Amino acid sequence: MEKLKILFQNNESWVESKISLDPAYFRKLARDQNPDYLWIGCSDSRVPANEIVGLEPGELLVHRNVANICPHTDFNCLSVLEFAVNVLNVRHIIVCGHYGCGGVQSAMKNHHLGLVDNWLRHIRDVYARFKDELDAIESEKARCSRLVELNVIQQVLNVCHTTIVQEAWQRGQFLCIHGWVYDLQSGKLKDLNCCISSVDQVDSIYRVRSPKH
Ligand code: CO
Repeated sequence: MEKLKILFQNNESWVESKISLDPAYFRKLARDQNPDYLWIGCSDSRVPANEIVGLEPGELLVHRNVANICPHTDFNCLSVLEFAVNVLNVRHIIVCGHYGCGGVQSAMKNHHLGLVDNWLRHIRDVYARFKDELDAIESEKARCSRLVELNVIQQVLNVCHTTIVQEAWQRGQFLCIHGWVYDLQSGKLKDLNCCISSVDQVDSIYRVRSPKH
């Protein structure tokens, strides 16, 4: 229990440090949230979304899960996406993976881990799609890093394939989806330059048109 006590002490110090800079800090923050960005990242404790991009509470809506996956059947991720796009009107959605991702590493092995195998199947599907490219990479570490990147690109597409994002584009809402990778070794972000901001960039089989438009 001693360990948990220190968390409450940390909390007290944090509150004090915020209030010393601005006595109304929490009152202002409690009023509303108006973030411009949605972050879809990995749950990994070494990838703290707000800190990496230097954003304060209230500036970044965050959804994290094992290996930053956004499948069209995951109501958890879709609910966050819907809230971000339809209610908060975020302008940018960032899917951010990270090199050395345990989820991606596990997906490359054939071990049975449990329930999570079903979740990691999404990454195996990405591997299967790019098997020739990935199998040609000799180093296991480099192969895993490339799969981390390909998984991010696939999840960017998955976000764009949702009715949520496509309906937003149809009503003329500005919405740009980005794919980034975080490097644990250097702390730096890498932009994969797979940015999508209109339905023209989406494969026609995944396009959905609302009957109202
Ligand atoms: Co990870």
